[in-house]
Amino acid sequence: MCGIIGFTGYADAKKVMIDGLTALEYRGYDSAGIAFFEENGIKTLKTIGKVSVLADKVAKEVVAKTSESTCGIGHTRWATHGGVTDTNAHPHTSGKVTLIHNGIIENYRELELSLKESGRTPVSQTDTEIAALLIDSLYDGDAIKTIKKAVELLEGAYAFCIMFADQPDIIYSLRNSSPLVACHTKEGSIIASDMVALIDYSKDYFVVPEMHVVILKRDSISLTDLDGNEVSPRMLHVNWDMTAAKKGGYPHFMLKEIHEQPDSLRNTILPRIQNKLPDFTADNIPDSLFDGISRIIITACGTAMHAGLIGKVMLERLLRFPVTVEIASEFRYQDPIIDKSTLVITISQSGETADTLAALKLAKEYGASTLSIVNVKGSSIARESDYVLYTHAGPEIAVASTKAYTAQLSCLYLLAFRFAYATGKLEKEKCIEEMHELLNMIPALEETISFDKKIEEISKQLTEKEDLFFIGRGLDYALSCEGSIKLKEISYIHSEAYAAGELKHGTLSLVTEGVPVVALATQQKVYSKMISNIREVKARNAFVVLITMKGQEAEPSIYDYHITLPEVKDTYAPFLAAIVLQLLAYYTSLHRGLNVDQPRNLAKSVTVE
Ligand code: M6R
Repeated sequence: MCGIIGFTGYADAKKVMIDGLTALEYRGYDSAGIAFFEENGIKTLKTIGKVSVLADKVAKEVVAKTSESTCGIGHTRWATHGGVTDTNAHPHTSGKVTLIHNGIIENYRELELSLKESGRTPVSQTDTEIAALLIDSLYDGDAIKTIKKAVELLEGAYAFCIMFADQPDIIYSLRNSSPLVACHTKEGSIIASDMVALIDYSKDYFVVPEMHVVILKRDSISLTDLDGNEVSPRMLHVNWDMTAAKKGGYPHFMLKEIHEQPDSLRNTILPRIQNKLPDFTADNIPDSLFDGISRIIITACGTAMHAGLIGKVMLERLLRFPVTVEIASEFRYQDPIIDKSTLVITISQSGETADTLAALKLAKEYGASTLSIVNVKGSSIARESDYVLYTHAGPEIAVASTKAYTAQLSCLYLLAFRFAYATGKLEKEKCIEEMHELLNMIPALEETISFDKKIEEISKQLTEKEDLFFIGRGLDYALSCEGSIKLKEISYIHSEAYAAGELKHGTLSLVTEGVPVVALATQQKVYSKMISNIREVKARNAFVVLITMKGQEAEPSIYDYHITLPEVKDTYAPFLAAIVLQLLAYYTSLHRGLNVDQPRNLAKSVTVE
């Protein structure tokens, strides 16, 4: 959470920062600020509100003839410590130090008390200002030595960009957990929380290693360890360009990303089908991965965890050994039963989710094998895992995850089929057939996207509702969980997902006249059971939106709206039904007049626990 950027070079730093913060805004959008070197020292401009509010403020300053600047740092905030106020916005300054921060300083209270004893009192309520006060109190002109001393005292997660008033046009950066990527181009040196802020300048970059210092100068960028020893950065290359990170004619990123799913699925699946079979040779995932494994734990947060719920069904069905799905924020504080015979699969779009990363580290400590399904190349979770399966979904900017989710599903399906085949639990011919079905799902998914007008019409019936239920069985129940989070996070309508058979054990008392129930009935084996459950809610006069597969008959008396998905094997129905639920959430949010891409209180990348 929070987006940070630092630039020093030959271009207008204010413009580089505002453009970069605009691209990074999905990470936090409570307030924004920049600080830059000018003739008379460092100047700071910050404000509550979105980056556009900051941009107006900066534009006024430019008119007021603020001197040119080619070096600065910028921040877009998702508040953790201290409310949303101008004072709490970053950057924060203490003496010679001006800095921005992404993360949480966990011991800031203790540090604050000891700093107060030496007469240093913060003006804001933030943990970040304490870091500024601390670094300034330690600064003796040697930035790296000072940073090292500060790091010894700071606890928590952080990515910093620091400017020292007596070192014009130089930025020092370091990170612990929170992400940072950097590059040097002919325009200068640039560092940010995410590649989306760098891609206009370079496709080649490096991920800043933890506990290393990046020194950004106009003509060079260098990396050192905390003792000042130079280290060579490991360069990476991205294969997408800026058009992928722009709306491209769509009114919202979310809608664009929903429409990108056929491509993101092709990009994720096709390279992993060789000789008609799932194949992870190019991912360096050997068939021996499952040697000695008797159990799988999938751990993740939010939508990624919901992908895990579907993965569990598929992996158990095909591999025939126990798979559990654990919420990462719970898992990391339990005393999990893990050993060398456990494979822990972590799933994350950003690859930076603090709880998922901590869960992964814990699994490694216990000796488990680890595999991650991650979208962002070189991210912390990818680097920490023994094996990585990248989803090739491209940048996902809308806070509500869509294309990353279906890409995660496709990886889980491929894994389940590959290892069922490799361990002799699935015959070759059957595995080939399944790959055929998986690929057939993509045009069917394209057709499902074309149902958007009907889905928009249904969403108009939901805009005034206060509560909503998603129900399903098996894979449909796992998908209901995803439908529910999608709707609540962007439409602010309360919703719950229920295993349909569970309703009558309590929740049915909430189903009264007009209460919307989205009923997923795509799974053949439990279809008639599902229809009985739908009758039960309809008997209470619920407003039923029924989703079935083509060929599944349903009497009109049990639904108000019926969406029939194109014909695919029901194993693949979650991909298609996910599209319906995503569009339903999208249009409901839109018709409630909300900010679809940046819902209140949320941020895209949750780098704090
Ligand atoms: O980057 P991650 O996939 O690890 O993020 C996990 C969740 O924070 C994320 O899926 C969140 O639930 C989405 N906003 C839901 O749409």
